[in-house]
Amino acid sequence: MRVLSVVGARPQFVKLAPIARAMRNQIDHVVVHTGQHYDERMSDVFFRDLEIDAPDVNLAVGSGGHGTQTAAMLAGLEPVFKEHEPDWVLVYGDTNSTIAAALAAVKIHIPVAHLEAGLRSFNRRMPEEHNRVLTDHASDLLLAPTQVAMGHLEREGLLRRSVLVGDVMTDVLFSVRDQVRKRGVALPEGFERGRYRVATLHRPDNTDDPQRLTQILEGLASLDLPVLLAVHPRLKTLALQHGITLQRGAIVPIDPLPYPELVAAVMGSAGVITDSGGLQKEAFLLGVPCTTVRPETEWVETVDLGWNVLVSDDLSQLPSAVQRSMPKATDATPYGDGTAAQSVVETLLSWRG
Ligand code: UD1
Repeated sequence: MRVLSVVGARPQFVKLAPIARAMRNQIDHVVVHTGQHYDERMSDVFFRDLEIDAPDVNLAVGSGGHGTQTAAMLAGLEPVFKEHEPDWVLVYGDTNSTIAAALAAVKIHIPVAHLEAGLRSFNRRMPEEHNRVLTDHASDLLLAPTQVAMGHLEREGLLRRSVLVGDVMTDVLFSVRDQVRKRGVALPEGFERGRYRVATLHRPDNTDDPQRLTQILEGLASLDLPVLLAVHPRLKTLALQHGITLQRGAIVPIDPLPYPELVAAVMGSAGVITDSGGLQKEAFLLGVPCTTVRPETEWVETVDLGWNVLVSDDLSQLPSAVQRSMPKATDATPYGDGTAAQSVVETLLSWRG
């Protein structure tokens, strides 16, 4: 069997890692990188650190508006799919690379499997929400990470195409966490275990309006512990454009972190503040409280179990939410046991539709 994976943005490289490993020696695996993320620190380091072979094809589409970027991917992917004639095109998550690949494949009758299917924020302002809803409905096989995601797929009439496989980000997180414990990865210089927090911000709703961005930064700056802010290129570009200084008060801006260093930084921290989907869940799995700067989350289990608090409309609440007391420990495992990638491979090999 030949499976062609399409990835393009940072979280997809993380998801690809356990899948590529599980496919080794079982499946002829072709990897296509759209080039949506192209900076060394947003792309190459993930392939290196997570021991993923270099992509077989890189379309190098780069940045652009949604239409331009997605269109370039569509045009670039079709001939690649025709050349490799895969049994499955496997798409990951909810980025513009995901929807482009699903659409390109379905148009030329190649079966599409969507990994991380069924997640919903029910916020139609988010590009990721359009991407995931449309990708789910275009796909032939929906590989869902959680029971909640399965419920969404059922409500949308997609249950017959859906399989609960678990969360592949948990697979990779557990293996990197264990490596970090064994080898130890140094904390950023000058930071003391448990005496700092980690933050990331990149969602258009938080970065693109200068007033809102300033309010969020002011909230972080006023915190009682230093905040290691790993600066996504979108945040860097927009802050510069609006003349907004990131370095203020408690904030210590740093370049985006390679995955093992991010995991180590979160493990050693007193808390996480983010608008990233993946990081909310990673914090939960590492037993670190998270505050999410968004009106809603796809990973509702983190909130229900008390480990994640959402702050969005009233940003004056940000400092008190972050500085809340430690949540009650839980032994719930809503994201599986770290063996999701194997279930994905078994499902792809055996699925008869
Ligand atoms: C994308 C995904 C988002 C995911 C995020 C992870 C979509 C719609 N969004 O958002 O779901 O959570 O990746 O990071 O697909 N840039 C660079 N170098 C890079 C990449 C981006 O400079 O390597 C800059 C460019 O100015 C670009 C901007 O960042 O215009 C935004 O990049 P883009 O990939 O379009 O969206 P993200 O905000 O990264």
